[in-house]
Amino acid sequence: MIETATDLQIDMPGLKMKNPVMPASGCFAFGKEYGALYDLNELGAICIKAATREPRFGNPTPRVAETPGGMLNAIGLQNPGADKIISEELTRLSEYSTPIVANIAGSTTEDYVYTAERLSEISIVSALELNISCPNVKEGGIQFGTVPEVAASLTEKVKAVSKVPVYVKLSPNVTDIVAMAIAVEEAGADGLSMINTLLGMRIDLKTMKPILANKKGGLSGPAIKPIAIRMIYEVSQAVNIPIIGMGGIQSADDVIEFLLAGASAVAIGTANFVDPFICPKIIKELPEKLKAYGVTHISELVGRSWK
Ligand SMILES: Cc1cc2nc3c(=O)[nH]c(=O)nc-3n(C[C@H](O)[C@H](O)[C@H](O)COP(=O)(O)O)c2cc1C
Repeated sequence: MIETATDLQIDMPGLKMKNPVMPASGCFAFGKEYGALYDLNELGAICIKAATREPRFGNPTPRVAETPGGMLNAIGLQNPGADKIISEELTRLSEYSTPIVANIAGSTTEDYVYTAERLSEISIVSALELNISCPNVKEGGIQFGTVPEVAASLTEKVKAVSKVPVYVKLSPNVTDIVAMAIAVEEAGADGLSMINTLLGMRIDLKTMKPILANKKGGLSGPAIKPIAIRMIYEVSQAVNIPIIGMGGIQSADDVIEFLLAGASAVAIGTANFVDPFICPKIIKELPEKLKAYGVTHISELVGRSWK
């Protein structure tokens, strides 16, 4: 018999989660709108939209385009900046008891270090997610996510100031994601998040110009799931730190597939735009699924496809 209160529990550095499901950064803003729909304490954790040192207006519109099985976005890290996120968003989120993961981004090492130090000092922030992988900003961002030595150096500097564990969010836009994962693990990362979006593009046949004002954007949604599964399968065998898996999750079966590949927890992004109740729905379904697959505790699934 499955005891849901205990059997879905996941323990990772900084994150004691009652279940393995959190919304993915940027697809849940700061939880305000979703908090009006359901109790956010049902979530295993809440991952907030990327925070930067200064407010960012983001890219010009159009910023999103539909694609078969997914979407392209080029939001450009729009956010109100660290000060406002702390004084308004995190203050509001302090009414919840579920752990908060603060996603941070920047254009320079100094930006990242500043934002990491500020946000990690806030008592309700349980972990940082270091976004070294945003494909939608002109400077910074992508370089940090594609060169192992640069990623390692940034990780080390952020780790030196952070009061909470640091999960480094890897980009799939690299030839060798295992090399990136090993580099940031050696630099002190407490965990990994993967994958961010894949760089893509669409062209409008009427205007004969790119649909996105930024021209290129990040592909997310079910179309990228097999890539995420393959990358998590490879990386989880090469490192000893836990992985938060993401990329196209839409169902409890998808969550199980990510755990089997080697993720210890998961994040759900684009599917929130299709069904705003997707996270609580999946959490509710998981115990029945475990039962159906003859599993007593969810952690038994982690990496089972290769162990
Ligand atoms: C509209 C949108 C905004 C995003 N913003 C962020 C962000 O601010 N920081 C970040 O690390 N990832 C961001 N992402 C990437 C997601 O967190 C996630 O890694 C990716 O979309 C894959 O998961 P999915 O297929 O479930 O959406 C964003 C994705 C989308 C679609």
